[in-house]
Amino acid sequence: MHNHLKIMAVDDDPGVLNVFKAYFEHSNQYNVVTASDGPTALDVFTREQPDFLFTDLAMPGMDGIALSKRILEIDNTVPIVIMTAYPSMESTITALQMGVVDFIVKPFKIRDVDFVIEKVMAQKEVMVENLLLKTEHARKKELEALNFDLASTVEEMEKLNFILRKVDWKKNSGDLFDQLTKISCEISSAHLCYFQILDDVTGALFPLTSHAAREELASEDVPDFLNLLAKKSLDRARPVTWQRENGNSNLVTPIHAAVSIPFNIKDKPLGVLTVCRAGGSNGFSEQDLHYLSFLGKRAALVVENTALYENLCQNLFSTLYAFVEAIEARDPYTKQHSARVADVSCIIGKSMGCTARELDLLDFAGRLHDIGKIGVRDKILLKNGRLDDEEYRIIKTHPEIGASIVGHMGLLKEETQVILRHHERWDGKGYPHGVAGQDIPFFSRIMSVADTFDAMTSDRAYRKKLDDQVAFETVKNNSGTQFDPQVVEAFIDLAQKGEITSSPL
Ligand SMILES: [Fe+2]
Repeated sequence: MHNHLKIMAVDDDPGVLNVFKAYFEHSNQYNVVTASDGPTALDVFTREQPDFLFTDLAMPGMDGIALSKRILEIDNTVPIVIMTAYPSMESTITALQMGVVDFIVKPFKIRDVDFVIEKVMAQKEVMVENLLLKTEHARKKELEALNFDLASTVEEMEKLNFILRKVDWKKNSGDLFDQLTKISCEISSAHLCYFQILDDVTGALFPLTSHAAREELASEDVPDFLNLLAKKSLDRARPVTWQRENGNSNLVTPIHAAVSIPFNIKDKPLGVLTVCRAGGSNGFSEQDLHYLSFLGKRAALVVENTALYENLCQNLFSTLYAFVEAIEARDPYTKQHSARVADVSCIIGKSMGCTARELDLLDFAGRLHDIGKIGVRDKILLKNGRLDDEEYRIIKTHPEIGASIVGHMGLLKEETQVILRHHERWDGKGYPHGVAGQDIPFFSRIMSVADTFDAMTSDRAYRKKLDDQVAFETVKNNSGTQFDPQVVEAFIDLAQKGEITSSPL
């Protein structure tokens, strides 16, 4: 039994509607709403939202089929039963196809309607249950698919992040290609990887670097079939794969699968990356190609940025060196002073175990150490006589002006500090800040000795240059006061071996 079920009856015969009302409302289990034509039925249906609809078929204006169609457009879950005296096969099929659930042939006993309601409601319950089960099953499937997608996305993000981390920090393009071959093997579970560079003129490929995850695969030469694969990828401007088949088993190679990927810089081919798997491994999947292509593009971007960075630095260095030349050109006595300070600093630095990078830094800072003198007027800079206090104060600003010029772009932090401190003394009596001992950068302490030695052994407007031996002695005598004793020791040692002499200029 279905308590409080709302039934709607539509018929142009008021007698039928009256019977519905009288019978069902009397049974106290149903509410009944009625309408005597199609348009009124649509209004009542929308307002009352009944659970069940009985409609006459033949009605003037809108017939039962047209009404059912409109009702089902509003709510396709409501069961509709058509009541008709003359059911034709055609109207029956049309109605059932549309979604009408049953027919009752007039005249009928009103109790038959009860039976129809029971039957249809039972069917509806089963249908709803099936629908729920189906929905639940579909949701479960959808959830599984989502979980799978999520796991794949997480894996992909992890791999792409790994590539970004590994490739991003490299500044030197030589190292980058070593890294590129190594990472290619890691991300694609490959055993061997080559990077070949393209000769733009002849179109030939030359091996630049390679990485073998298995020692027995390491070889300087690229096999012919891999060379062909690499060229094919260049011709087609896209990755090309190769997989060993039974047919080409006469090929003497442990490699079972390979992929060549063109490496472009600004859409222009620079070379080819070829990644190989050995020992019965599977071929490369679309996913492998995706990661390798991403890695290639990322590496290409780093190469472009490195080139831009190197170009930028080169331009900056050229400009700064030109500044120094301009300063030295103003004073014939200091010509080439900075270059000589750089040379002597590097000789001392090398003997004290500086690395190649540290020697570069010494050379750079040595060449630029007096760049701050660009801010000092010629009247003071080129003065023949003794400087008064104010003039000396102005001269002493040059390390800070120099550090400010070189540090301006934020690229050369260490070099900037070396320049800032090149007039500080070991005993803390130097300038601009009176920093002492180990607080003075090591390279500034080296440069301080080289700077003083060159100044003493060069002619000045107000005095002739000192003899080398006198200069060496002066440096020695100032060990522990003006200069770092360890630097002086290295300097004197070099001087005694004849590796440091004053310039013939
Ligand atoms: Fe200086």
